[in-house]
Amino acid sequence: MARTNLLYAQSGGVTAVINATAAAVIAAARERDDAVGTLFAARNGILGVLGEDLIDTAVLGAEEVDALAHMPGGAFGSCRFDLDPPERNPAQYDRLFAVFAAHGIGGFLYNGGNGSMDAVAKLSAAARARGYPLACVGVPKTVDNDLEGTDCSPGFGSAAKYAAVAMLEAGIDVASMASRSGRVFVLEVMGRNAGWIAAATALAAQTADEPPHIILMPEIPFDEDAFLAAVDATVKRLGYCAVTVSEGIRRANGTLVMEQDHDRKGHVQLGGAGQCIARLIHARLGHKHHWAIPDYLQRAAGHLVSAVDHAHASAVGRAAVEAAIAGRDCVMPAIRRLSDEPYRWDLEFADAAAIANLERRVPAHFIRADGLHVTDAARRYLRPLIEGEVYPAFARGVPDYRRLKLPAVPRKLASYVP
Ligand code: F6P
Repeated sequence: MARTNLLYAQSGGVTAVINATAAAVIAAARERDDAVGTLFAARNGILGVLGEDLIDTAVLGAEEVDALAHMPGGAFGSCRFDLDPPERNPAQYDRLFAVFAAHGIGGFLYNGGNGSMDAVAKLSAAARARGYPLACVGVPKTVDNDLEGTDCSPGFGSAAKYAAVAMLEAGIDVASMASRSGRVFVLEVMGRNAGWIAAATALAAQTADEPPHIILMPEIPFDEDAFLAAVDATVKRLGYCAVTVSEGIRRANGTLVMEQDHDRKGHVQLGGAGQCIARLIHARLGHKHHWAIPDYLQRAAGHLVSAVDHAHASAVGRAAVEAAIAGRDCVMPAIRRLSDEPYRWDLEFADAAAIANLERRVPAHFIRADGLHVTDAARRYLRPLIEGEVYPAFARGVPDYRRLKLPAVPRKLASYVP
């Protein structure tokens, strides 16, 4: 069998288990040295391909690959960068295929979310148009759980577990401090347009009176009066109220409850919706309030990874290598749920082009009729995804995350000037 070189890259917001996928890709490629020559990784996603900033993953010893599987962040660096349509910027594609050709790349594995699947679809189409033999494989990940075509996205289960644990523990704290004048705790979690992580905090509760008492998701327009009435009723009943807020909640007129800033491309930077909600409660109901934003903590918590999520992340990495070796193009290994309890799953392949740029939001049957909490169907879906724990090794009291040395291979082409 002729051997080919593969190129792996990470893209978009990172997760606590994206490196588990990377480690699985490396391990699988090593096992298949009959079919894979060199496995390269691009630094900072597709930007590293454009810049010919490539790492030969052979620099990592077996022990480092094992350690990589338990490290948060993106070991090879990530990026938020959308490829132009080929007809608008052919030079961009000329460069990408020049880099592929210079390094004998026959398979490209792009580990990302819905925007990255768009890159996979564009590259796959461009390769076919140019007659360049390339298997383009999307590898799913996103804490937002908003990828279509898969039952869940690797990275989500661990973020969900972190958020549920945060609500459980802070909820116990605020319950201890319940007072006659009322106390409120607000937890803001990620989820730009999809409330999956917020929904998962419901897993903290064993009974209806346990936190979180209210969950605000972007799928439901924020109704201030209905919300305050629910807070008031909860405080009257329990002396306190715990609320989860998705960062991307919007009012009925479509405006965000809170946005921080815009980046250079006009993307809105979210953050602060929880504080707004906490202040609103204080202003209207007078309760003492605390609020928290775990922000990066929820997607970087390598010390609290879900074992199921870790297994998903590893499995999609291995399957992506096999798909590239088999020459499967424009596909994405996807998680297929076979049963909730006991939780059983396997992998299937989805069409990456059909998934590109879509956003899977929390469906209506997962949201309680009043829009302020989730249903039992949501709990049944979510519960297995946070099951089990995979801990990193600890040293000196903190996780023993390696500082990997990842030198670039010598460039073969002139520098790229966009
Ligand atoms: O990719 C998911 C996500 O974690 C969103 O939930 C969040 O709004 C965003 O990324 C933050 O990303 P960045 O690190 O680019 O600011």
